[in-house]
Amino acid sequence: MSMTTPIVDFVQNYAKSGTSRLHMPGHKGQALLGFEGLDITEIRGADELYEADGIIAQSEANATRLFGTAHTYYSTEGSSQCIRAMLCLAMQAAPAGQRPVLLAARNAHKALLYAAALLDLDIQWLWPAPDAAGALCSCPVTEAQLAAALDRLAGQGRTPFGVYLTSPDYLGGMQDIAALAKVCDAHGVPLLVDNAHGAYLNFLVGGSRHPIALGAAMCCDSGHKTLPVLTGGAYLHLGPKAPVQEETAVRNALALFGSTSPSYLILQSLDRCNRYLSEGYPLRLYSCCGQLARMRRVLNEQAAAAGCPLPLAVDAPAREPLKLTLDAAALGMTGTALAEALRQDRIECEYADPRYVVLMFTPENPAQDYERLEAAVARLCAALPSAPALPEPEADVFTELAAEAAPVCTVRQAVFAPQEVVPAETALGRVCAMPTVSCPPAIPIVVSGERIGPAALKLFARYGIKNVAVLK
Ligand SMILES: Cc1ncc(COP(=O)(O)O)c(C=O)c1O
Repeated sequence: MSMTTPIVDFVQNYAKSGTSRLHMPGHKGQALLGFEGLDITEIRGADELYEADGIIAQSEANATRLFGTAHTYYSTEGSSQCIRAMLCLAMQAAPAGQRPVLLAARNAHKALLYAAALLDLDIQWLWPAPDAAGALCSCPVTEAQLAAALDRLAGQGRTPFGVYLTSPDYLGGMQDIAALAKVCDAHGVPLLVDNAHGAYLNFLVGGSRHPIALGAAMCCDSGHKTLPVLTGGAYLHLGPKAPVQEETAVRNALALFGSTSPSYLILQSLDRCNRYLSEGYPLRLYSCCGQLARMRRVLNEQAAAAGCPLPLAVDAPAREPLKLTLDAAALGMTGTALAEALRQDRIECEYADPRYVVLMFTPENPAQDYERLEAAVARLCAALPSAPALPEPEADVFTELAAEAAPVCTVRQAVFAPQEVVPAETALGRVCAMPTVSCPPAIPIVVSGERIGPAALKLFARYGIKNVAVLK
């Protein structure tokens, strides 16, 4: 029997019913853009997202079965909302009496910082090891490093209310969630994962690589990033180890950070996605991962034949299979120049920085997208004047950054304090107010409340950051 779509069915029946819409929204179902007929509010029978016991609860139950979680909740406001709710719940479960502290890998999206400001929590950072080459974007955490950090905090009498990891990261790197979950279990601390980029990981044919399947207590997934879900559609997943299981508590935590008018277009999209996932998706995903593995091989062969000194497509078994990350240095280019060259061939990337270009594929991409990319890279390789030189090794600014990053006030104090925006190159010694100074999208170089040091200034220049909000 095919999977039910109770939200889609309800809204479609309502749209066909010809009922006079004497309720919000103001468009009354009349088409300006074309989809207004399906955009409703919480009328009778439509259930309520934050007190669900009808069609939304039924649809979430379908998602819960599909993801194999203890309970999956919908969000219409992205992983950002789920991250806030997840931290709020973990904080509620922690023993009272001490300032809440979270142990988090430093490659966190700024949504974590916004949550820290709203929830007034402290963060102890896990930094990439000096030999873990690469930018802040990838912050591989080892079991030993995590255990040592947890022991150190325990020694200070500060048990963190959670360990927070971002995996997959923006460049496609993944943490060893299964191993790190065991360390968290041994220390009695819940593992919370920002899995915004990995909703599809539960459906891999070789076995789930989803954080809940690997032992995390809770995680968020942006359905909209890798599944055919409208922008804003996301999941908050609770595993059996989530420290709060009570449904009302979870819905209240989500409601605290959400609008009272959740989008029914997004809810229908999440609902319809359940059927999509249940109808042959794993095989389509398998085929897509296979095509991408082949594409990485082909691009690297093309680049090697053109004399490129490095592999063009970043490749390793532990990486996230749907991201195609190109190392533009292989072609003697910057990531932004490579992205511009691809744009000329009508290929729009997800992200580009001085070194990398990230391309995101799903089973929805037509064959033409693969063909275009292969042809574009072949043209770039053919046009190389001579074999590019190996890029100069980048100075390890991140170790310097880790050494200089010390908070002078809490994230909340910094975010809510009087502030001003100054040119980045004049910000030395000032205290960062807003975490909008990002290297790979939205990963703060300096966190609110930290004093801006020389390493941060170098990274502002590297990532083209022009202005910084600092405390007055
Ligand atoms: C790693 C990571 N976490 C969280 C978010 C926030 O997700 P959303 O846009 O669904 O709110 C993003 C968005 O890009 C992200 O890249």
